Amino acid sequence: MIPLTIRHVYDFGPDRELVGDDLVRPEAWDALRVRTDGPFSLPDTREAWERSALERPDLVERARAVSAWADAQGVRRLASYGVGGATVEYLIWRESPSRELVVSDYAPAAVQRLAGLFPEADVRRFDLLVDPPLPGDAHLFHRVDTELTNRQWRALLRRFASERILVVATEVADMRRLSWEVRLRLSRRPTTRAGWLRNRAAFERLWRDTHDATAVRMHDLEAWDLRPRG
Ligand SMILES: C[S@@+](CC[C@H](N)C(=O)[O-])C[C@H]1O[C@@H](n2cnc3c(N)ncnc32)[C@H](O)[C@@H]1O
Repeated sequence: MIPLTIRHVYDFGPDRELVGDDLVRPEAWDALRVRTDGPFSLPDTREAWERSALERPDLVERARAVSAWADAQGVRRLASYGVGGATVEYLIWRESPSRELVVSDYAPAAVQRLAGLFPEADVRRFDLLVDPPLPGDAHLFHRVDTELTNRQWRALLRRFASERILVVATEVADMRRLSWEVRLRLSRRPTTRAGWLRNRAAFERLWRDTHDATAVRMHDLEAWDLRPRG
């Protein structure tokens, strides 16, 4: 299979004014998290935040799968990156409250709000493009694949070359999905650049120099368990 990575675009509708032309910026993510009340928003009360997680059976099951994976690996401290609203991380914490959990993102207003909502976790600001790994027995990249170019991913994985990682993909695109995306880009709809979409071969090429990978499934999403090479 030929590795294919293509630009991903998204139609934010009326929120496009807030997000701008390019989503992959901390300011754009912050605007979605704290200035909208749609699917990307981060509620400002614990009750609403918990509800937004618990009313998603897909996330509940996915969190259960990630937690079971962490237990099987003997992970006592899990670090998660690009967590956004951290709904899946909240559900992972509920599965095993005694496991230490670090949650991080680069969007400052979202991180500040999350620190107030999620006192059970160690909430940090962290930039995947520059920062060294947070202390943890394993590292979770849950649906952050679209945010980085292939070059940025490879640089990140070199920084994490001695770490155990679970990559949970937003989407592994097939040809049909890739061509739909191209058609959307060519249409006249006012879309926002929203990172990158990949097929399976493109994903697997990202870690081929740094990690040995096993494909696993985290309930509804495809994932890879990465171990340092050799
Ligand atoms: C598609 S969202 C996924 C959020 C969450 N993991 C989930 O599954 O709902 C991507 C997240 O990655 C964060 N992000 C993007 N680039 C980042 C970077 N360079 N460093 C850290 N976080 C980043 C964004 O702020 C956003 O919250």
